Amino acid sequence: MTKKVFVLNGPNLNLLGTREPGIYGVTTLEGISEACKQEAEQLGLEIDFRQSNYEGDLVSWIQEAGAENAFVLINPAAYTHTSVALQDAIRAAQVTVIEVHLSNIHAREPFRQHSYVSPVAKGVIFGLGAQGYLLGLRALAAFATEEQNNGHKR
Ligand code: DQA
Repeated sequence: MTKKVFVLNGPNLNLLGTREPGIYGVTTLEGISEACKQEAEQLGLEIDFRQSNYEGDLVSWIQEAGAENAFVLINPAAYTHTSVALQDAIRAAQVTVIEVHLSNIHAREPFRQHSYVSPVAKGVIFGLGAQGYLLGLRALAAFATEEQNNGHKR
């Protein structure tokens, strides 16, 4: 069965392309979505690519992923550094999550160096720009294969 991956994007990522291009690059979210779709096709994954400026949407989508036994690749954006709700949602949904950031959050302001998501993520990718999303999908494809071979969830 084709494994589904929810690719979730947090606040202000809809502005990529024009938002602080020196930090986040010039690729739009639409461009990242297209690249992810192509990569997913090659990897044999089904993806559902979403963005919201609202924390509750992200929480609900993580719950949805859990209910569907899907994987999650998430750029929680600013909620990375503030959201206990996201950490709780990931714990509750028992979902496999990879956290991704375009910028190197550890080379930036001190408040960006703490993530509420990292302790409950399987892995974290940061500083590699849009490429990070594609690397995340590759890792998830490998986990999907492992899961199929082992015949259980994690
Ligand atoms: C970000 C890093 C966050 O600190 C920031 O709030 C973002 C984007 C990144 O992709 O580099 O909105 O998650």
